[in-house]
Amino acid sequence: MITELAVFEKMPDQVKISHEELERDGFCQNPFFECQIAEVSDEHRSKCVVGYALYFYTYSTWKGRTVYLEDLYVMPEFRGNGIGKGLMSKVAKIAVEKQCVRLQLSVLDWNSPARDFYAAKGAQDLTDSEGWHFIRFDGLSLDNLVKEAPKD
Ligand SMILES: CC(C)(COP(=O)(O)OP(=O)(O)OC[C@H]1O[C@@H](n2cnc3c(N)ncnc32)[C@H](O)[C@@H]1OP(=O)(O)O)[C@@H](O)C(=O)NCCC(=O)NCCS
Repeated sequence: MITELAVFEKMPDQVKISHEELERDGFCQNPFFECQIAEVSDEHRSKCVVGYALYFYTYSTWKGRTVYLEDLYVMPEFRGNGIGKGLMSKVAKIAVEKQCVRLQLSVLDWNSPARDFYAAKGAQDLTDSEGWHFIRFDGLSLDNLVKEAPKD
């Protein structure tokens, strides 16, 4: 489903992660992420996974504990049944139980259904209201930063 979401987002080539890395990072002593999955039962009552929400914790120096929803995905044939809303609400519940005061995420500008979905649930679009840009260092730019690190 991670790959399905990347295909939907028109960036399938960006998925470089392996099963081993996901297992290592999500199922270690201090996991880098947590995940909720949505399951449905088929006619034989065997369960299959049809959606997921992957999230992790971050921190705001202005507001404190924050949860970041990295991925939210429901398989196309199961959309429109409340599964996406259920996954997001479950993440919100877990986060609030851990005293998080924010749930944040990024969405592509052309993804109007998802943007409408978040807006309908009361989310603010910070690019519109505050002008934030989403910045990333990786590959060479990350290596270059590391090379310039002071020697303590
Ligand atoms: C966004 C997504 C997770 C929503 O999941 P879903 O299970 O279809 O959503 P739900 O059935 O829980 O719908 C929640 C609400 O959004 C509305 N909604 C659902 N699909 C919609 C659509 N295509 N257009 C407009 N509204 C929609 C529903 O009417 C519902 O409103 P309500 O709470 O007033 O009843 C799902 O469509 C998806 O996986 N999309 C592709 C991947 C994606 O865009 N992920 C988010 C990336 S940031």
